[in-house]
Amino acid sequence: STKKIGIVVGSLRKESFSKKIAANMAELFPEGFETEFIAIDKLDMYDQDLDDENRPPAAWTSFREQLGQYDAFMFVTPEYNRSVPAVLKNALDVGSRPYGQNKWGGKPGAVVSVSPGAISGFGAHHHLRQVLVFLDIYTMQQPEAYIGNVANILDSEGKVTNEGTLDFLKLIVNSFVDWINKTSN
Ligand code: FNR
Repeated sequence: STKKIGIVVGSLRKESFSKKIAANMAELFPEGFETEFIAIDKLDMYDQDLDDENRPPAAWTSFREQLGQYDAFMFVTPEYNRSVPAVLKNALDVGSRPYGQNKWGGKPGAVVSVSPGAISGFGAHHHLRQVLVFLDIYTMQQPEAYIGNVANILDSEGKVTNEGTLDFLKLIVNSFVDWINKTSN
């Protein structure tokens, strides 16, 4: 049956490089895989009182239900101050609670970091991997996806056109597909 990949992007801005890289990658999945972007922009900041008092915001409840639909997660994120943007961390936190009801766990995942700079979001990439360990996402180890100098690899339509980068994105997607097939039941 078709496997559904939830794509989570760690940037909210319209012209986000990360969003564009994610969109290019989404098109590379083979038949039998369906991709969907998961919105994280309407999630109230996590406040444990709201769960403890059994009055979670509607946005949290629908987000948590939505996460159950996916067979795997692909995270495509920029780096903010050498770490994960707060909006992405908040989404991870909201989906991990209430205690004992983590909605991310037991599924394969992939991390892609994106930056206009040369360090390619390395800090965010590895902070994110640390969080995914605790959330029990089976994160693909290799190949690692660091997309640097991103402003130079997207054309005016937001497409990756140079063959080297396109080949690299295909390698990441194909490896992730193999990883999903290997790790999902
Ligand atoms: C940044 N940026 C950035 N870039 C980077 O490579 N390492 C970093 O630590 C940071 N820190 C940082 C902090 C904050 C608050 C902002 C707003 C930006 C620059 C960042 O990579 C750039 O704005 C990207 O365009 C953001 O990704 P999207 O929105 O294009 O996907």
